[in-house]
Amino acid sequence: MLDTRKVKRLGVSVPTIYAERIREILVKRSAIEPSLKPLRTGDKVVFPLKPDILQAEEIVPPDLGCQLVWEEFQERRTTPRSIREALAGLVRDELLEKLPSSYDIVGDIAVVHIPEGLEQLGEQIGEAIIRVNPSVKVVLGEAGPVEGVYRTRRLVHLAGEARTFTAHKEHGCVFHVDLEKVYFNPRLAGERMRIAGLTRSDEVVADMFAGVGPFAVAIAKHAGARVYASEINPEAYDLLVKNIQVNRLTGRVVPLFGDCRTTFSNNQVTADRVVMNYPSDPFSFLDTALKILRGRGVIHLYGFAEDTEEWRSKILERLTELGASCDIMVKRLKPVSPSRSLMVADIEVRSSRPARTS
Ligand SMILES: C[S@@+](CC[C@H](N)C(=O)[O-])C[C@H]1O[C@@H](n2cnc3c(N)ncnc32)[C@H](O)[C@@H]1O
Repeated sequence: MLDTRKVKRLGVSVPTIYAERIREILVKRSAIEPSLKPLRTGDKVVFPLKPDILQAEEIVPPDLGCQLVWEEFQERRTTPRSIREALAGLVRDELLEKLPSSYDIVGDIAVVHIPEGLEQLGEQIGEAIIRVNPSVKVVLGEAGPVEGVYRTRRLVHLAGEARTFTAHKEHGCVFHVDLEKVYFNPRLAGERMRIAGLTRSDEVVADMFAGVGPFAVAIAKHAGARVYASEINPEAYDLLVKNIQVNRLTGRVVPLFGDCRTTFSNNQVTADRVVMNYPSDPFSFLDTALKILRGRGVIHLYGFAEDTEEWRSKILERLTELGASCDIMVKRLKPVSPSRSLMVADIEVRSSRPARTS
């Protein structure tokens, strides 16, 4: 707990039964001092006013038993622990309940989902996040789903500096990203380390959907393997090239620009392990993965599903159609909606015949 001091300030004293009504009036006028805690004494609540509020008597209705009083108010903790704590007393109680309790941090940018009905609080939520995490310099709000081939989403600026690019550090790697132009998910850091931990240094790995290179770079850096990384989005490809350089992996990670259905075959790449992080369409590219493995090896396939066993059966069915015999282990990684989760299947391909073209 941080020590807090008391500060003398003009406040509005109001009978507790009218406190909520008066608070709404004061919040609308941006009159409450956010760094001070309202005072509760018996049947009264006293809201601290900002020092620049002139003619405070005009703000409060005289008929609800309100009075202007000088009081000593306790300062709030300088660093609140949550958005809710940062905005307590500044927004209505029923809205406090709905405030987001989590958000992603990529480098010095926070990305938050603003729940429906709280859109008008976007800026306040953004500023609260910066108060909670002083190292956050930009707050962006999600303004749509992850969509399209590039898997990007619309973002809106909520607080802090106006930019969408940053550098994210993760397990000894650095990733330059531009969140408006490329996909990046900091929540997969542990998964990247898991795959790196499974990879031997003498393996060749194919990252079919490389993005800015988080899997490719982590695997090359931590496992020492050679990685071919294919990416179709030109902005993500440029950042992939940059990330290979800044992580000193030139030559160990080979960037391939374009559609993975042709980049690996054009460069005659054969791999022992394939990473397929394209969960929105996991099955359309399995035939390409089998071709890259040329008979045997491991595929890490990501996808969205409700049930691990059901998803395992679907993968088995598809791979059997493609003429592969394999062992499949499925793991649930994180929920993406009340019923669906991001899953990963570790697929050990024992043999496969050349894929049918259909
Ligand atoms: C879900 S993102 C994953 C990116 C990266 N693996 C990561 O974990 O951050 C999928 C990526 O695949 C790329 N992509 C989509 N279709 C592709 C294709 N046919 N060939 C190569 N890359 C593709 C998208 O542009 C996007 O960057």
